[in-house]
This record gives sequence, structure tokens and C-alpha cells, in this order.
Amino acid sequence: MTFRSLIVGCGSYLPRRVLTNDELAQRLDTSDEWIVQRTGIRQRHIAAEGEFCSDLARQAGQRALAAAGIDANQLDLLIVATTTPDNTFPSTATKVQGQIGMTKGCAFDVQAVCSGFVYALAVADNFIKAGQAKTALVIGAETFSRILDWNDRGTCVLFGDGAGALVLRATSETGPGQRGILSTHLHSDGRDYEMLYVNGGPSSTQTTGAVVMDGREVFRNAVIRLAEAVDEALAANRMTASDVDWLVPHQANRRIIDSMGRKLGLSAEKVVVTIERHANTSAASIPLALAEAVADGRIREGHLILMEAMGGGLTWGASLVRW
Ligand code: ACO
Repeated sequence: MTFRSLIVGCGSYLPRRVLTNDELAQRLDTSDEWIVQRTGIRQRHIAAEGEFCSDLARQAGQRALAAAGIDANQLDLLIVATTTPDNTFPSTATKVQGQIGMTKGCAFDVQAVCSGFVYALAVADNFIKAGQAKTALVIGAETFSRILDWNDRGTCVLFGDGAGALVLRATSETGPGQRGILSTHLHSDGRDYEMLYVNGGPSSTQTTGAVVMDGREVFRNAVIRLAEAVDEALAANRMTASDVDWLVPHQANRRIIDSMGRKLGLSAEKVVVTIERHANTSAASIPLALAEAVADGRIREGHLILMEAMGGGLTWGASLVRW
């Protein structure tokens, strides 16, 4: 029997504290005008002291389960995409597994930085297609505020904290206009490891470290690689951009998002943008945007959704989903 992954619920969580550009400008040599013009970001959410990545992940995961009407003990796969785990080990996913009362199957983290959600979705989809899982919770969760150098205006203004989640369920139904994940496409190129990295880690410095980035090169690569991944996803499904109802991109920079929208010839109303309020939440940005567009009624059953992301590694990828 062949299986596909249906998306049956989504949810998200943002920490209460909002940090505006003006607040940043009080302690850094920056301005709201510079940040908005270069990135589109106006504010970001910041996890409270004592609020961990697992807390954000759990809240988003439980909301997605509630939306799906699925109990945690029905899950047999839980993946958390994160770059900011609570501890070096065990995985944040196992912590969430314990907290939500999921007692069977397996839980693990996926690390692909800002591409993490697209990677985790691909892994879960392949588990389902292989018949190895029936019901999966895929969470993107980040506390990026904990790995920033708050004196580096070139990086600290860009990121925020948050989490989003999807519930996937295996289906063997076939027929025209099939819903669910149509395809996933992943890439990486380790030659660009140092273009965007954290200068610490358990094996190298025994410290957590902070984000270091060649912003211009990341920008240049994002525009090229994301366009390639999107073309690959559309071609694999014999579709064109005109078939797409919603582009739900990773929210790194408004100018990167706009350039992809223009490349695809999509009107601005067909692109889900949250960056002005969330900033770049890394692996959480796509499910946060999905959850928002589902909640406000933009994304509806049967819509074709195109997701794309690029992050440190470099890693990048895309996925087409019939909601
Ligand atoms: N406020 C004011 N000035 C600043 C700030 C700031 N927050 N940050 C940098 N500047 C200054 C620089 O010091 C520089 O000044 P100088 O000319 O006197 O040296 C000037 O602004 C221009 O700096 P650039 O880095 O060249 O500015 P750029 O136009 O490239 O914008 C940015 C920087 C916003 C980081 C851009 O390169 C970018 O968005 N890159 C993509 C990075 C990204 O999205 N990373 C996220 C992770 S990867 C991902 O998610 C895809």
C-alpha cells in the first residue's frame, strides 16, 4: 500500500514580550527606519527568562493537536526542528514528548537552522510514505534571542523567538486533486559553512556562542538557491507558479520574500508575510506563517501552498502541499 501525508492541523505560539525597533535603537547604533527599510522587520517576540525552546514547542504542538482533534498518545512520530535546543542533549523533541504525554513511537530533533522546518517536514513525510509512521507532529521552535550578540547590530536586529507546528496523518486515498504533501526538495552545500554560523558549540569552544553572518553573501545566495528550489518543486509536480494559491516563504528578509514573489509573478496578496511582526524566527517562521493564514481564513482546504527556506549550512529546500 502507498501512503501520503495529509496535513490535519496546525498551531503556533509566540512569547508575550514584544521588542520593537525603537527599543533596540535606544541601546544600539541603529534606527527603526534602517531596520524596516533593509529587512521589513518592525518588532520581534522574545522568550521570557525561564521560558525554554521546549515550552514554545509544546504550546505550538498542543495547539496543532487540538486543531487536528488528535490526542498526543495517537502520535508515533515527533520531530522538532530547532537550532536552539534546551540542552545539548537529549533532544528538545524528547522533552516535548514527555510533557505532552506521547508514550509510543519516536521523537528527535532536526538541525538545519532556518531550513529546519522544511527539512523536518520532508523527514516526517518520508517516514509516512515508508509506512513507518501514521501520525506525526512536526514542530519548528526557536529561542534565537539566546544565541545573539546583542551588541552586534548587523545580526541582533534580525531575529525573534516563536514556534509553529503541523500534524500529519497517513492516508492511502488516491484520486485527482489529492490533498497532502505533494513533494519535498532538500539541498545543502557545506562549502558555505562559514557564511552563517554560531561561533561556539560543545565540541569546539564548550560555549553556546553567537550568530556570525556575512549578510550580503547570505542574501545573494538566498535569492539564487531559493529560486532553484522553487523551480524544482513546481517542475516535479508539472505545475507552474500560476497554480500556486499561497507562497509561504521562510521569513528572513522582506526583500528576499519580495524578490521570490516577483520571480514567480505572484501578486503580493498571494504571499504570506509575517516578518514585520515576528522577524526571522528561523525554523519556526514557516509554520508560524501557515498557522496565521489558516486562522484568518486565507489558506483553505484544497489550496496549493508553496513553501521555501534557506539557512546556515548552507541548507535550503522547498515543498508543495495541497492543503
Ligand atoms: N542599523 C544600522 N546600520 C547597520 C545595521 C543596523 N542594524 N546593521 C548594519 N548596518 C550598517 C553596516 O555597518 C554598514 O555600514 P558601513 O557602510 O558604514 O560599513 C551598512 O549598514 C551596510 O551594511 P550591509 O551589511 O552591507 O547592509 P545590507 O544592505 O547588506 O543589509 C542585512 C544587511 C539586512 C543583514 C542584509 O544583508 C540581509 O538581510 N542579508 C540576509 C541575511 C539573512 O536574512 N540572514 C538570516 C539568516 S539566513 C536566512 O534566514 C535566509
